Amino acid sequence: MGCRIALLFGALFFAIPITARNIAARKATARVPPLLAPNCRNVQIPLGNITAYNIDFRSALSGLNFTDPEAVMDVFDSCLDPDTFIDPYDYEIIQPVVERNVTIHGIFCEPEVPVPPKERQIHFLVHDITYDKLMWHGLGVLEYSLADAMASGLKGSYTLAIDLWGHGDSHGATYPDPWQVLQPPFHVEVLHEVVKKLRQNERGLWKAFKNVTYVGHGFGAQLGALLLKGYPKDADVFVGSGLPTASNEIKPFPKEWNLVPAAATVPKYARQPLGYFAGDVDDNANTARQNTLYGGYFEEGLAFLDYIFQDTIAAGEACWGGSYLALETVPRESDFAGQACILAGEYDRVACADSILSVEAPECKERLRSVCKYAFPNTRSCEINVLGSTGHAWMLHRMGPQAVRTIRRWSERGDSWGNLCTTLTPRRVKY
Ligand SMILES: *[C@@H]1O[C@H](CO)[C@@H](O)[C@H](O)[C@H]1NC(C)=O
Ligand SMILES: *[C@@H]1O[C@H](CO)[C@@H](O)[C@H](O)[C@H]1NC(C)=O
Ligand SMILES: *[C@@H]1O[C@H](CO)[C@@H](O)[C@H](O)[C@H]1NC(C)=O
Ligand SMILES: *[C@@H]1O[C@H](CO)[C@@H](O)[C@H](O)[C@H]1NC(C)=O
Repeated sequence: MGCRIALLFGALFFAIPITARNIAARKATARVPPLLAPNCRNVQIPLGNITAYNIDFRSALSGLNFTDPEAVMDVFDSCLDPDTFIDPYDYEIIQPVVERNVTIHGIFCEPEVPVPPKERQIHFLVHDITYDKLMWHGLGVLEYSLADAMASGLKGSYTLAIDLWGHGDSHGATYPDPWQVLQPPFHVEVLHEVVKKLRQNERGLWKAFKNVTYVGHGFGAQLGALLLKGYPKDADVFVGSGLPTASNEIKPFPKEWNLVPAAATVPKYARQPLGYFAGDVDDNANTARQNTLYGGYFEEGLAFLDYIFQDTIAAGEACWGGSYLALETVPRESDFAGQACILAGEYDRVACADSILSVEAPECKERLRSVCKYAFPNTRSCEINVLGSTGHAWMLHRMGPQAVRTIRRWSERGDSWGNLCTTLTPRRVKY
């Protein structure tokens, strides 16, 4: 049980400078099971066949040799350029794709203190790209586990953190096609099927929840916005953090992500076909990930675990819409009529930061407000909050344990995270 903590401290003391020893440690630690609270457990959700209207990239990019790593890498790099936007519906080749026997893995937590059936609610947690469900569980370090905090605070919410298809443990015997299948429209259909079960079924994990709060970070937030564009009633509350908002001065350029074909990185990705990408394994890789996803106050040890446990990004995820970092991929004019909360870290280079000297990024606030206006004009309320002293992966920064403590303290107060948008995270972070 104490392994992760021990590893964390091990990493804290030995992480810098990055050495060959750490790369060996990465291989060893990748096999340690995560530490979960007693009220949480791993679950599997069989969804059967999923059909979605995806771009047929293999026809649309007819000039591309899909087995040539260099050629594929060139196209992929262009999909990390936030200035590249191609309206997905301009592609002439949108086709239904059917993925068979989709089973989604997740971590399900029950409220620490049982709640009456009428008051049951759930926070449905969807991870960013290059992460999996453990993002919401502090990568297995309990003091960072937001999912856990919600199951003890927030009047005792249930939580479900899933692995998107093709990520974490959610894949079949072979990995899904990274170009044809793993695109936002497909993920949205998966999310919709999960929400249907959350709302309707009443067996096992399912409690026919009347109140669903969708919480997504980064790519998971974009998918949430797309889900609510297509199915506005799928959530009562939407909490989205780390959405791309606009061009800013210090956004990462494609090479900075340091992504390479995943099969060439660590053994656990060896069976992934060309079209899955992960951070390179070399002396600079940890630093590269930190530079793009971290900023402000964080523990080096946790940032190092973040690098060790990194998941992948698939070509179809990056390239749908030209670049998944283009702000235009956040859909406009949703009919979603619930409550929305839009968050970003002050030093979030994807979503927010105006400069490296940002003090709660004043321009960012305006941009988050404009997300409310153009994406969610019909909400009951849409609030914003710029989180001080943190980069993109804010829940894994020093802010994380603070948010955890706040959520736990407010067990009587909030029904949902949506109510806590502006208050959840105090502006003045104490260290
Ligand atoms: C899934 O699709 C396959 C063929 O595409 C079909 O044979 C099978 O019956 C479908 N399964 C379900 C549960 O619909
Ligand atoms: C595609 O790339 C692979 C790997 O570089 C190469 O072996 C193959 O000949 C190429 N195919 C074509 C049609 O150029
Ligand atoms: C569907 O997936 C489950 C879980 O991965 C597996 O146990 C089962 O054999 C699969 N069924 C078919 C028909 O492939
Ligand atoms: C769901 O939770 C939100 C946020 O707390 C609350 O405003 C709303 O009334 C709840 N909806 C239902 C149907 O309980």
